[in-house]
Amino acid sequence: MRGSGDILFENAAQVLTLRGDAAPRRGLAMNDLGILEGASILVRDGKIQWVGDDLGEVQDELADADVIDCRSKVLMPGLVDSHTHLVWAGHRRDELELRLAGADYEAIFAAGGGILSSVRSTRGASDDALYEQSLRRIQRMRRCGTTTFEIKSGYGLDLETERKQLRVARRLGAEGFRIKTTCLAAHAVPEESKGSQAARAAFVQEICERILPAITEEGLADFCDVFCDRGAFTISEAREVLTAASALGLDLRVHANEFGHTGGAVLAAEMGARSADHLLHLDAHETELLRETGVVATLLPGTSLVLGKPFADGRALVDGGLAVAVASDCNPGSCAFENLSMVLAIACYGCKLSPAEAVCAVTHNAAASLGVSEQVGRIDRGLAADLLLLETDDYRDLVYHAGSPLIDEVFVAGEALSRR
Ligand code: NIG
Ligand code: FE
Repeated sequence: MRGSGDILFENAAQVLTLRGDAAPRRGLAMNDLGILEGASILVRDGKIQWVGDDLGEVQDELADADVIDCRSKVLMPGLVDSHTHLVWAGHRRDELELRLAGADYEAIFAAGGGILSSVRSTRGASDDALYEQSLRRIQRMRRCGTTTFEIKSGYGLDLETERKQLRVARRLGAEGFRIKTTCLAAHAVPEESKGSQAARAAFVQEICERILPAITEEGLADFCDVFCDRGAFTISEAREVLTAASALGLDLRVHANEFGHTGGAVLAAEMGARSADHLLHLDAHETELLRETGVVATLLPGTSLVLGKPFADGRALVDGGLAVAVASDCNPGSCAFENLSMVLAIACYGCKLSPAEAVCAVTHNAAASLGVSEQVGRIDRGLAADLLLLETDDYRDLVYHAGSPLIDEVFVAGEALSRR
């Protein structure tokens, strides 16, 4: 097993370094992947020790290194999936068939299916059952190249189950997955609170005064997210939740503008959120607000594809000077895709990103939106040696041959997954 010994990744056709500082790349700067041709990487204790093309610089340190021949291959950072709901129980394959036959996602949700169906199965699952299902899922995601994961709760909608989901996420973190967690208790109004305006208000109050404080007290969440959209939470409800979360020290993310100009993007800008996600409907004013306030625009093109909705206009966002990230949205309903390298390609075909922009969007920019860009998302001295070795000499094949098994090996902290 490769552990803490030195490893030399030697002479790659391309090393996508994404070199530069920790800030997200904005606009056309996303195209600069800092590609080195014929370069090598020295890894020590799970971290990148040196990157360059003159092995003479590290000659004395190479004697005991394991050497991995990277000729004709690409080395790039492990992918960072900055928007997932990967801890859930059960499945919604039946709903998928209904939707493929013409049923509408929002209508299913309004009728008590959709998110609320996954709430019922997740509430009913034991801690261990939830963990086991989630573990298998995250292992598959990692085989597809993702080495850092954001995980949201939101299939509990009560303290006990929100906590259960986030504890499972933390347990995955303890098992060696790099995880950031997000409390999404404001994902939907639960069945038991749907009857009246007063019951709805009481649920928002429950989130602010009980769920978020308890989750924070136990150190279970790094972020708070809200689903601010038609059929979910209004701007003023979402603002209440985000304000309470912010006072508790949580950073903010927002599910915004998926179904219309429903205020989520404006709220994300107003609240200084790290990220506004979905953004299928975004006008020039909303775009400018996100740009001015430095909110990362996170696109989830797998969801557009699955739901048959328009794609976010990634081209306009990059041309408008925003920092764009791309994520899977892996969830039981609107998009259960686990393969972020395939979603990267969909971001090109659907959202019109260039291959280079899409790579930046699933590595460094996603890491920056999670506040972990000093640790992952680039290939530079001191960062974690989370690396993908591609079976091609040109990274654009990730888009050109989308869906092909181009990832030859995934390394986490220098350790090859296939050797574990
Ligand atoms: O990001 N839009 C809201 N939440 C999820 C969908 C969750 C579900 O359908 O279970 C999303 O698409
Ligand atoms: Fe989502």
